[in-house]
Amino acid sequence: AVVRRHTFVVSYTPYTRLCSTKNILTINGQFPGPTLYANKGDTLIVDVYNKADYNITIHWHGVKQPRYPWTDGPDFITQCPIQPGGRFSQRIELSTEEGTLWWHAHSDWSRATVHGAFVILPKNGTTYPFPKPDAQVPIVLGEWWKKDIIEVYEEFMRNGGDPNVSDAYLINGQPGDLYPCSKSDTFKLMVDYGKTYLLRLVNAAVEDILFFAIANHTLTVVGTDASYTKPLKSNYITISPGQTMDVLLEANQPPDYYYMAARVYSSAFNVAYDNTTTTAILQYNGNYTPSSVPSLPPLPYYNDTTASVNFTGSLRSLNSDDHPIHVPLDINTNLFFTVSVNAFPCVNASCAGPNGSRLAASVNNISFVSPAIDLLQAYYYHISGVYGDKFPDKPPFFFDFTADSFPVYYENPARGTEVKVLEYNTTVELVFQGTNLLAGTDHPMHLHGYSFYVVGWGLGNYDKHKDPLNYNLVDPPLQNTIALPKNGWAAIRFKASNPGVWLMHCHLDRHFTWGMQMTFIVKNGPGPEAQMLPPPPDMPPC
Ligand code: C2O
Ligand code: CU
Repeated sequence: AVVRRHTFVVSYTPYTRLCSTKNILTINGQFPGPTLYANKGDTLIVDVYNKADYNITIHWHGVKQPRYPWTDGPDFITQCPIQPGGRFSQRIELSTEEGTLWWHAHSDWSRATVHGAFVILPKNGTTYPFPKPDAQVPIVLGEWWKKDIIEVYEEFMRNGGDPNVSDAYLINGQPGDLYPCSKSDTFKLMVDYGKTYLLRLVNAAVEDILFFAIANHTLTVVGTDASYTKPLKSNYITISPGQTMDVLLEANQPPDYYYMAARVYSSAFNVAYDNTTTTAILQYNGNYTPSSVPSLPPLPYYNDTTASVNFTGSLRSLNSDDHPIHVPLDINTNLFFTVSVNAFPCVNASCAGPNGSRLAASVNNISFVSPAIDLLQAYYYHISGVYGDKFPDKPPFFFDFTADSFPVYYENPARGTEVKVLEYNTTVELVFQGTNLLAGTDHPMHLHGYSFYVVGWGLGNYDKHKDPLNYNLVDPPLQNTIALPKNGWAAIRFKASNPGVWLMHCHLDRHFTWGMQMTFIVKNGPGPEAQMLPPPPDMPPC
């Protein structure tokens, strides 16, 4: 294992998309940001310099950061923001991760433009659990707003309703041929007939789960969230914000131009999303006369929940001798978390939610309130009054969560900054239950500091007697983000062996900002190997 050093300079850079130019926050002037490469087990030091006039933090999504939450990144959870002119040297220690992850800003909505792929190759002397690909290509899916994203965020915070939807989806920073003023810059992947390409897909979109496909080509998924899966062949994939996927593409079709394309999967809205398909071009090298117009791949319709869950539910861990899995079988802590979109009564003039309310979101009916200093600091230095340790193991009461009507008093959540404290090495089963309160929709739930096994999921209300009988304890996928299906549930398991302060949240930023988040504090265990490490000397001041 080696130490790799990088410099990230945060600054404003002009970018032109959809016929107009604006300044966006970037890393090293690049959009999407630089791809980081490392081998499994390496350590990276990233010196982040903030040369913009905007507070920012950087998160290494899916990196477990063993015993070292200090440089994990979420603002007011593990650090205060890096202020304009400030600098923070972040240490990223890779342990079990192998495959594709990504990094992104974790303050307000700056991650809309501040993000990039993070490729973790096998250790030197080891190789992939599949034939070595001829080349590998990061494919970063994103979103573009014509407006300044900071303004979109601030307007959203002011008016209490839904945010503005983006104006385009992007593949590697480009909207593609179907959007105005975009054709000449469409991302193009040149391939040789007969070769195999490892696509490293990242969904960096802020608000949307996406379907992705390539015309005439079958995709073979071999990994997700930096963990190998049994090869899964499919004509399309579903990928939610936060998720990553390793996909093999065989260039085995007649030499020509083909579109790769992505568009939204949204179970909640009935908007015509048809004209918002982002495309890139897969082009074969060689001398041939191409078709005049490349064909689009058939993508599932925007509200096709069956297509989404069929794909996601087919993922299985590889679970080979070289890549064994360790599903906790003896569970000593059972948690049941409802995740809901709710609303607060209106207390000022700007409340664009239903019936003049302010939209909110919650976990177990608590809408998270950001503290003034970060939770990690408060925990480590025993600063009282910053958070409470009463995050409930289950919702305040049970009802028919996925019905169309529901007890009205569940609609207005409590506000709080509560954490759930776990003893070291607790074996946790956590069932997420979606609700149909104000908007039944899918929620990509993401846990920091851990990967977890997705042992079960289903539609409707979780049945604690029947559903566990169908758990997959043999080869469940190991993920850090799970798309909780619309009006459904998902059961995950993990062993709390990583002491620290770890955020858990919905990766749709509107839900996250509304309060669909909570934090685990995992206590130190016995012995030096079970202790949180001390902070670096340059933690950004609050
Ligand atoms: Cu992708 Cu809390 O992060
Ligand atoms: Cu959500």
